[in-house]
Amino acid sequence: MERMYPLVNEKLPRFFHGGDYNPEQWGPEVWKEDFRLMKLANVNVATVGVFSWVSLQPAPDRFEFGWLDRAMDGLAENGLYAVLATPSAAHPAWLSHLHPEVLRTDSSGQRHAHGGRVNFCPTSAVYRQACVGVARRLAERYRDHPALVLWHVSNEYSGYCYCEKCATAFRAWLKIKYGTLDELNRRWWTAFWSHTYTDWLQVEPPYDHGEKSIPALIVDYARFGNQSLLDCFLNEANVLREVAPKVPITTNMMGACYTTDYRRWAPHVDVVSWDCYPGQRGDTAWTGFSHDLMAGLKGGRPFLLMEQTPSTQNWQAINALKRPGQMRLWSYVAVAHGADSVMYFQWRRGRGGCEMLHGAVVEHAGHEDTRVFHEVSALGAELAQLQDHILGAGVLARVAVVFDWENWWVLENTVGPIRDKKYCETVFKHYRAFWRRNVPVAVIGTDADLSGYDIVVAPMLYMVRKGWAEKVEKFVEAGGRFVTTCLSGWVDEDDLAYPGGYPGPLRRLTGVWVEEIDALFEDQRNRFIMKQPFGPCRGDYICARLCDLLHVETATVLATFGDEFYAGWPAVTENPFGQGFVYYIGTDPEPDFLMHFCRTLCVDANVPPVLEGPVGVEVRRRSQKDRSFLFILNHNDDVAQVTLPDRRCQDMLTGQLVTGTLALPGFDVRIIEEL
Ligand code: GLA
Ligand code: ZN
Repeated sequence: MERMYPLVNEKLPRFFHGGDYNPEQWGPEVWKEDFRLMKLANVNVATVGVFSWVSLQPAPDRFEFGWLDRAMDGLAENGLYAVLATPSAAHPAWLSHLHPEVLRTDSSGQRHAHGGRVNFCPTSAVYRQACVGVARRLAERYRDHPALVLWHVSNEYSGYCYCEKCATAFRAWLKIKYGTLDELNRRWWTAFWSHTYTDWLQVEPPYDHGEKSIPALIVDYARFGNQSLLDCFLNEANVLREVAPKVPITTNMMGACYTTDYRRWAPHVDVVSWDCYPGQRGDTAWTGFSHDLMAGLKGGRPFLLMEQTPSTQNWQAINALKRPGQMRLWSYVAVAHGADSVMYFQWRRGRGGCEMLHGAVVEHAGHEDTRVFHEVSALGAELAQLQDHILGAGVLARVAVVFDWENWWVLENTVGPIRDKKYCETVFKHYRAFWRRNVPVAVIGTDADLSGYDIVVAPMLYMVRKGWAEKVEKFVEAGGRFVTTCLSGWVDEDDLAYPGGYPGPLRRLTGVWVEEIDALFEDQRNRFIMKQPFGPCRGDYICARLCDLLHVETATVLATFGDEFYAGWPAVTENPFGQGFVYYIGTDPEPDFLMHFCRTLCVDANVPPVLEGPVGVEVRRRSQKDRSFLFILNHNDDVAQVTLPDRRCQDMLTGQLVTGTLALPGFDVRIIEEL
């Protein structure tokens, strides 16, 4: 077999199956029991050390690795592997007390007291040195340990600090970016409201009670804040790489997390990993979107599902249980979208602390005779049975949806034309139309190469960077189909409006120009009327929130608005461009329109679904260079009939050859190799 991508670590050529393990919270008797239970649960890895700083370094000049030696050795003796974390997400109280500067200051300017976690100032040299001190010792001590398979740097980096040190670092960052204050003033448009700076020292972070009227400043603070978190990660990762060059590195990410532009992080991790906590009633398509967003960070390379709850969360308002079979189903959803692991938070419920009621493989009952334990161990047995066949297999997509963090930051801080821009929701809405058809979608950034795709959708791309429109023009000229929507192409990367009308640099592509945009109240609707059928798009569709008043230049009108003073004006347009086509949707349409629209696009571009299935049955494919695997995932809680592809298929779990139509019980999954 030729793998599409390499394994995370050759030492463990299996799906990683395990989770967050906190031996420091327990004594030796429990440890012995943990190892017995881990084997029983068909677990093969434990993530250790995530929050162990004070156990490893109880005082500035005292390190205690004895307990971790025993834990690591215990894992190895029991045939288990370790994802070893650096503990920097929760620093010890002694560090805060000796050096209050390590504490985070929030956007009100208030320095936090010690407590919680991720409560550090990323700029603090004291904090960074302390992180390196413990990371270097971990690396030196365990680099050749037989259990070690992966470094897990810190935990869920996020949020920004607004302290004096960060303010100083921000000014230094701005000096590098802008060179002169004149240039900063020009690009921030500070002549507005007499905001011109005459000294660098006048520039402050965007405190809640401070400068909120220069969106470009706020966006730059997000860029700077993201970079300062990334610098903290690199501060540790560089040391780990230097001391233990053979051990791969990750940090656990959080999907569409506002404060961290993971596209900037991705080149620095060896494998992307993330923590998946869908709301119980959450849309399963949103989970798919999040997995694809994470997979897209390294161009479709497999990622790790680092955390999910085996049963319940505890930090939601209402924490429902995953229904029997749901944990297994959602685990395979992750695998189907490219995960090479199924891991849990947490292995064992603690007896105290604010996460004692969070789901765990081992409940407070403390034994193996629980529903959750049985489900975990059964899933572990299946994952083991799948061996290494699927590991490293990629997800091939001919459709790409653009999701850009900086665009999100800019939109969030743009005042008008509607307060809640719903950027994530808008991108997701377009994604979901393809998801519903089982058409794989790559979630990409504006830096991605477009040549491998047939359809590229960039909803609400308000900020268009220099050079991007030219890239899309090449893509469309060569036969690609490009879709964009209202609120696209308004500003450049400095958040300065494009002169000459919207959609700015996308005007040639779309063949339209937008004169005004109407914002609708929550209870208000408009509609648009197809001028003639466009595939299954016909008749009227409801639209809401935003309506462009646009003029066609070279485009053809596909639909016009039905109501308001702009009734009869274009709402949806098509522009032939080179060998391809560009579509402009000048409003926020009802989901059915997008379903129909994406069907037409896929038919025209000859992009088939992986498999057509009934509603609620998701089908994905992962491919090695010479093998391919179908995942058939029934999100319904009752039986669904699924017709298999017309070729030789083998059920990977039963070994049986399967053909025709199968009845898939509620929440059930089939993994099928296409022979
Ligand atoms: C996050 C953290 C874990 C834990 C879980 C609880 O993902 O990384 O330490 O707090 O949430 O859901
Ligand atoms: Zn700070």
